[in-house]
Amino acid sequence: MNILVTGGAGYIGAHMTRYILRHGLRPVVLDNLVYGHRASLPEKTKFYRGDIADRRLVTKIIRKEKIDAVLHFSAYAYVGESVENPRKYYENNFSKTQKLLDTLLDNNVAHFIFSSTCATYGAPDVKKLHEKLPQNPINPYGFTKLAVEKMLADYSRAYGLQYAALRYFNAAGADDDGAIGEAHDPETHLIPLALQSILRPARQLKIFGTDYPTPDGTCVRDYVHVYDLAAAHLQALDYILKNKTSDCFNLGSENGYSVREIIKACEKVSGRKVNCLEAPRRAGDPAYLVADSSKARKILGWRPCYDLEKIIATAWNWEQNRRY
Ligand code: UFG
Repeated sequence: MNILVTGGAGYIGAHMTRYILRHGLRPVVLDNLVYGHRASLPEKTKFYRGDIADRRLVTKIIRKEKIDAVLHFSAYAYVGESVENPRKYYENNFSKTQKLLDTLLDNNVAHFIFSSTCATYGAPDVKKLHEKLPQNPINPYGFTKLAVEKMLADYSRAYGLQYAALRYFNAAGADDDGAIGEAHDPETHLIPLALQSILRPARQLKIFGTDYPTPDGTCVRDYVHVYDLAAAHLQALDYILKNKTSDCFNLGSENGYSVREIIKACEKVSGRKVNCLEAPRRAGDPAYLVADSSKARKILGWRPCYDLEKIIATAWNWEQNRRY
């Protein structure tokens, strides 16, 4: 099976590409390298540098590589930037995805797995988020992802597209052997920043908000390993192919950890202190986001394998020996 991985040189996409290779399938990566790293891909990976909205290029790839299905990772994902510059997000995450989808359908590629997000739910006041909750994003990033989900549903009804929208909670961790890992520039995520503050104490970690209505006052999130996310993609692809259907799934561990608990876990794994200070809330952060992933478990047979300590151990290994 030939699988086109858009954004395959980005953080989650690169882990997906490796996972596909390990499972005996053939990934073909399309990435514009705005945020992705060519060095994150095994040398022999078939790689095209370019834009998902480039109709000629995508058509050429589909025909030449005999693409059967597409895993669509390419997107911008800085929530704060999406508020400052929504145009960039609607253009890249929505308009270009529409162009990609049209090119796929025009070339009879009708199997599509979409990287969606728990940010499409907004800030609901529930213990665990399930797929039937109303989706009310609180920032343009979440809206662009929700808009694509709506487009997929319409395209599926009208043109027979078969898709899965996978709503990730907090992707984290790195390759087990440390070959690849999280390398955003700028980095905004908690776990890499906490570990970097251990390695370079001059980079003090800010705890954004200590007055949230949570047990210790800091935000609670559901961290899920990138390879567990990758596994869900192949399970979802198998599911839509076998059942000729479309659906959406939450992907989270179902365990919530506060910012302070993550800092403690980073200290335990590394055996060293995180250099941190308390700071005001970051705009747009919901207090509590934890998944109910029972649908993915039941329908896809998905079982996340990495617990928090394993997630942080892979990230710590990566941070100490980063290659890019
Ligand atoms: N945090 C800090 N200090 C930091 C960085 C983060 O205290 O330096 C806190 C945040 O306030 C938040 C938690 O750590 O409470 C996790 O923050 P991340 O930035 O690691 O992750 P987010 O939960 O903000 O974002 C993730 C994805 C987004 C997605 C979002 C959905 O990275 O792409 O979940 O809520 F949109």
